[in-house]
Amino acid sequence: MSMVSETGRGRAIPQPSIAAEGVPVWDPVVRVLHWALVIAFAAAWGLGKFGPDQMTLHFWAGYAVAAIVVIRVIWGFVGSQTARFTSFVKGPRKVFGYAREMTSRRPSKTLGHNPMGALFIVGVLIVLAMQILSGLLADPEDYINVGPLAQYVSSDVARQALALHEPLSTLLLAMVAVHILSIVFYRLYKKEDLVTPMFTGRKKID
Ligand code: HEM
Ligand code: HEM
Repeated sequence: MSMVSETGRGRAIPQPSIAAEGVPVWDPVVRVLHWALVIAFAAAWGLGKFGPDQMTLHFWAGYAVAAIVVIRVIWGFVGSQTARFTSFVKGPRKVFGYAREMTSRRPSKTLGHNPMGALFIVGVLIVLAMQILSGLLADPEDYINVGPLAQYVSSDVARQALALHEPLSTLLLAMVAVHILSIVFYRLYKKEDLVTPMFTGRKKID
């Protein structure tokens, strides 16, 4: 798009351009849910690992994560274009094609999630759901921190859920670490700022 317009006398006048202001990329629901998830996940993880023995607060943080995940999945079907799973989940060919471009020191120029980011998103939503379900079903047999759904399953299932809950939390931590390192990689190596658009909703393009 042209950044200048010619007057009758041939003088160039600067025009506000899409390159400078950016184009809309993330709707408010995506942004609010993302930062709410960051806070609720950190609270659930921290309270699970380091919180008081009575885990009421941990449970509530876990329910907040559950609500966010459910709303995000619904939004993935009915939300704005870039929020929809159909717009960013891609098959193996696109994912490998994109992976081959990873080492080029250029911004990806994807308006929306790139095919590899999409893998993380789907993966993290699935593992979060497993974490929540295992917590809901877990019975640590201490008569205090019993998951609210443990009474509806056999004690074997409740024990297995408990056994899964801790390893899943470590897996999630590792996934989040990769997520954050990728964002730093984009910033430093590919010179692409992904974080600002997650706050402002707009992304600058060439
Ligand atoms: C994303 C959400 C969640 C995360 C990240 C998370 C994380 C954790 C962590 C790190 C621990 C400590 C594990 C250990 O070191 O032994 C823990 C324990 C526990 N969590 Fe969660 N949790 C989540 C959701 C839930 C939910 C929704 C419930 C149930 C309503 C729940 C129930 C429990 C219980 C019962 C324990 C105690 C297990 C024990 O006593 O050994 N969690 N959680
Ligand atoms: C301070 C830490 C974090 C930062 C700076 C951060 C930053 C970002 C950015 C920039 C994006 C957009 C990526 C793109 O352009 O495609 C994104 C997406 C996403 N992040 Fe994070 N993130 C953080 C922590 C987390 C955590 C802890 C989780 C989950 C437990 C998470 C889950 C997600 C998900 C699910 C998306 C997809 C957003 C959507 O479409 O709804 N992030 N994050």
